[in-house]
Amino acid sequence: MVKRIILLLAISISLNGMLKADEGMWIPMLLEKYNIEQMQEMGFKLSAEDVYSVNQACLKDAVVIFGRGCTGELISDKGLLVTNHHCGYGEIQYHSSVENDYLTNGFWAMSPEEELVNPDLTVTFLKRMEDVTDRVLEGVSDDMKSVDREKKIKENIAAIKAEAVKDTHYTAVLKPFFNGNQYFLFINEIFKDVRLVGAPPSAMGKFGGDTDNWMWPRHTADFSMFRIYADKDNKPAKYSKDNVPYKPAKHFSVSMKGVEEGDFTMVFGYPGSTYQYVPSYHLEMLTETINPKLIDVRTEKLDIMNRYQEADPAVRIQYAAKNARISNSWKRWIGENRGLEILDAINKKRTYEKNFQAWSDANAKEYSNVLAQYKKVYDEYSNYRLAYGYYREMIPSNGMEIASLANKMDVLKAIYKAEKVDEQAVGKLKEQLLKKVDLFFKDYYKPLDKELTAKLLGMYAANIDAEFQPEVYGVINGKYKGDVDKYVDMLFAKSIFDTKESVVEFVNAFNAKSIKKLEKDPAYILNASFNKVYNEVIYPELNKQKLNKLNRQYMAAQMKFEDDRVFYPDANFTLRVSYGQVKGYNPRDAVYYKHFTTLEGIIEKDNPDIYDYRVPEKLKELYEAKDYGRYEVEGTVPVCFIATNHTTGGNSGSPVLNAEGHLIGINFDRAWEGVMSDLMFNPDQCRNISLDMRYVLFIIDKFAGAGYLLDEMTIVE
Ligand code: ARG
Ligand code: ASP
Repeated sequence: MVKRIILLLAISISLNGMLKADEGMWIPMLLEKYNIEQMQEMGFKLSAEDVYSVNQACLKDAVVIFGRGCTGELISDKGLLVTNHHCGYGEIQYHSSVENDYLTNGFWAMSPEEELVNPDLTVTFLKRMEDVTDRVLEGVSDDMKSVDREKKIKENIAAIKAEAVKDTHYTAVLKPFFNGNQYFLFINEIFKDVRLVGAPPSAMGKFGGDTDNWMWPRHTADFSMFRIYADKDNKPAKYSKDNVPYKPAKHFSVSMKGVEEGDFTMVFGYPGSTYQYVPSYHLEMLTETINPKLIDVRTEKLDIMNRYQEADPAVRIQYAAKNARISNSWKRWIGENRGLEILDAINKKRTYEKNFQAWSDANAKEYSNVLAQYKKVYDEYSNYRLAYGYYREMIPSNGMEIASLANKMDVLKAIYKAEKVDEQAVGKLKEQLLKKVDLFFKDYYKPLDKELTAKLLGMYAANIDAEFQPEVYGVINGKYKGDVDKYVDMLFAKSIFDTKESVVEFVNAFNAKSIKKLEKDPAYILNASFNKVYNEVIYPELNKQKLNKLNRQYMAAQMKFEDDRVFYPDANFTLRVSYGQVKGYNPRDAVYYKHFTTLEGIIEKDNPDIYDYRVPEKLKELYEAKDYGRYEVEGTVPVCFIATNHTTGGNSGSPVLNAEGHLIGINFDRAWEGVMSDLMFNPDQCRNISLDMRYVLFIIDKFAGAGYLLDEMTIVE
């Protein structure tokens, strides 16, 4: 151990200024060039080719994008995969009802026939990636006008993508890296038949709920299991009962060896977005304006939802996923502001910028103006960025639900406005729309939406500049003399969008004449008036993308300014490797947090009076009887652990691997003190939180009695 510490010290000193040990989300294809040496010095036993290769099966073949925003990993040769409980939450909720409440009770398919089909769920495998910078920038020069430049790049991208997947069933994604200084192409294979296999009850999978969310010490069994199905040729296919379990090129071995402090860990997944290289102005905008305002609006939303959910179990289920979604970023923003302040991040950036300025004045005059230009742009941009954020809170991002439903009718309107109405298309569209309407009302509670609508309309008026106020406020302030409640009473009394029956009837009977009726509906008017502000005022300004060019220049400039540093690109929801080590931390004076939690902590937190801390009887029985089987470690069962891997939203569900490349955990969160890592990483405080695989196996085996699932895994004892 001592030897190891000395070794690690030596590494961090020798690499100081070049490559930091924990910070970074690295490109799998470039590990050989930049990282593998350091990874191996830290204990990793595999080669770069074992992680990412186009010539042989490798770890990347066992990692998927789960749904739209999470990561998952294969753990058997029969298509079995794990991800987080909160990633499968929508599916678990979709199959739940008051009678069959899988959210509350958990769900375990005891045979393949019992697995549950999910209409819209996909998983995406990366086949290969490629640096296509030169081809994307063909015919592009820096002195081109921005619009022309963008246009040329767009054309090039479309051509590259089309060529790359020609005559295949693959799809192509092409994304900018380093703010448009580099481009990579990703060739993907998307599977469409993904079935729910198992999930623990929320009292375990969401144990600690939003109280413990973003916090350590943590005791959440945040996992759920799915199975990928393919056609008989092992190719993607839509759901069919004839489909068979997918046989992946690679699946992870599950390690029961556990973790010690200092052990090498690697997270392999899809981090969503980070902003490491922004100027101080960006941090000012976030911490002083955007975060505080959006925190306020969500506090109000949550107050309303919590109240209705506590009063009625059916509403609790209906709004469970919505509530979790709102609460999640709300809490992260609060932590982000705190973390940046403690880091004195704005001043750190300012100091950096001073040095940068001096360097560029002396050595690289072409960048001397960048910071001054940034300042000017941010002065205006901040207002628009706030209006945009608030607009999203009003309708698209769990805002006024009745308005968001009305919004869905625009597709019908468009089809009837066309010169020749395609009747066949209409039939199909109506069918799809009716499905959406059905889903909408499954999770809709009118009194809640009514209160929320009034609240949000009032807050928008009070917080957002007049130039962004939609026309509907003319009505509210005129006819209703500013009485939002009165306006909302009228809205819900007159609109057809408040009951399923009236909406279904309206959609079924929709024809060219219905457009008039639609345009008179107050919920439609409300939605349209917000959309109008977005489309005509907010979007055009944001779309000028004044920041794009500056971001590209500043990124390139920073890379020249610190030419001995190895840069990693900001996260952009492409596959990345983060590596670090298992490690506790000091959250505040005199307090040290250990690197792992155990079942003891769950029992400690147990409190039948607090919803988030109700421990299921069955788990308590296992605890009383100390019935831990082979999952026992020193008289208890390990539950979660923390490490220094640099992760962000999207990394949820990512495999956490040990030095052998075996699965030791499932990443699901970050610790509160370090959530500012999207903007600035602090190795002392930033920790990713993972679920220990031994707890996962214990739950499947001992708690759920679904031990047969273990038979198909490759378990390393
Ligand atoms: N904070 C984690 C992440 O961003 C988990 C979120 C889900 N859990 C919750 N209690 N809302 O995804
Ligand atoms: N919980 C996050 C996710 O869903 C992970 C994180 O932000 O650390 O991806």
